[in-house]
Amino acid sequence: PERSHFVVVANRLPVDRVTTEEGETTWRTSPGGLVTALEPVMRKHGGAWVGWHGATDESVEPFTHDGYEIVPVALSASEFEEYYEGFSNATLWPLYHDTVAFPEYHREWWDAYVVVNRRFAEATAEVAADGATVWVQDYQLQLVPQLLRELRPDLSIGFFLHIPFPPTELFQQLPWRRRILEGLLGADLVGFQVPGAASNFLRLVRARTDHRVERDGVALGDHTCHARAYPISIDTSGFKELAESPEAVEEADRLLEDLGHPKRVLLGVDRLDYTKGLRQRIRAIGELFAEGRLDPSETVFLQIATPSRERVEEYRKLRDDIDLLVGRINSEIGDIGHRPIVYQHTSYPRVKMAALYRIADVAVVTPLRDGMNLVAKEYVACHPGTEGALVLSEFAGAARELKQAYLVNPYDINGMKDTVMQAITDPAVVRRRRMRSLRRQVETHTIDAWADHFLGDLKRIGQARAGNPTWSLNP
Ligand code: G6P
Repeated sequence: PERSHFVVVANRLPVDRVTTEEGETTWRTSPGGLVTALEPVMRKHGGAWVGWHGATDESVEPFTHDGYEIVPVALSASEFEEYYEGFSNATLWPLYHDTVAFPEYHREWWDAYVVVNRRFAEATAEVAADGATVWVQDYQLQLVPQLLRELRPDLSIGFFLHIPFPPTELFQQLPWRRRILEGLLGADLVGFQVPGAASNFLRLVRARTDHRVERDGVALGDHTCHARAYPISIDTSGFKELAESPEAVEEADRLLEDLGHPKRVLLGVDRLDYTKGLRQRIRAIGELFAEGRLDPSETVFLQIATPSRERVEEYRKLRDDIDLLVGRINSEIGDIGHRPIVYQHTSYPRVKMAALYRIADVAVVTPLRDGMNLVAKEYVACHPGTEGALVLSEFAGAARELKQAYLVNPYDINGMKDTVMQAITDPAVVRRRRMRSLRRQVETHTIDAWADHFLGDLKRIGQARAGNPTWSLNP
């Protein structure tokens, strides 16, 4: 295939190869916020997306999809276990989310991480045209910027971390901390969700490497690596149009019908992940029902949990806990035909998600820690009119922007209960004022603006590289 001038590199491709029960293989949209955010960027810019196709021990040829190239990278079954389930999701994921679960450190996992990162760098070096812009994504590929620069010094390399970057004390637990820092420093520009993450990174570079740090830049001889925040967003108008489509409107009617036309719908939508605060959220809402502050004959709490990383121990435990918790609440409260909690462990097509956002009077988004959380933004984009309310965790990156949400500390069950009730009982004018302000935020800060901002800075860094090596983004 032709080599591309714009290449996105992410662990996952936007589509996953799946085998149906009938034994046929097809493609399905991949889970997670990264894909939701980057898909419209690729559709607009074209180019190539290098990533894993979601199956193991299977190599797939490149192909064209939605106007851009898909370049699959293969993983063996043991790499899937050690690089993906192990180092990415049982070491880095919990460590970067403030150790809300205990990170495990295994040397074999690290070795697999290095091997797979090298494979991604090599695949990218092959498809990138001379002087191309390459944008590496997320925690699974932190070594790629450095490895890629060694192979292709002509490229302009950006990196974006979709999840939090941990406080320095936690990051320093990592036996391979210096290697990760050096890996990221291979980029010309490293983007984070919030400014605090960028400063954590620079502080660690100062403490753990010999490089000179000046303002937001690290001088590295052949290039300067800049670090700053670029809060990610969604394709706001795309979501709005989807939610207003006849399909979504019909689907919303059908859902209300199935639920027995409740007076009020509370909604949670998450990957089934221990960072999402599901235990605390369900406990809080269960208590509101038990205490009679919410009436199960008029209110339903709908929780959609998309299956995720299902073989990893912590995720299995979580699944069992949630099953138990929901079962207990439903069996004790409500009545035949009035389950207070409707819990679905499944993934739905996007139009059904838009329908759910339409019918939700309150969205409850209460992660214990989250890089950004795009569900919060999707709800604001999709819910019609200016009705509706968003209950949002202070510990989601989105809370920095969606300041008019009903903010909660998800560890504080009583506080969360009171805030959910406030979101329900506040006068309509108050709720509308808040919702209008949220709407304005997501309409002005779109995924397009995010990509333009990041890529614009990356381009200017490239132009400055030759002339002025100490040039800074923040004048
Ligand atoms: C988060 C991560 C992504 C990841 C997604 C889905 O959004 O930031 O990198 O792709 O979760 O998780 P999975 O492990 O299924 O790719």
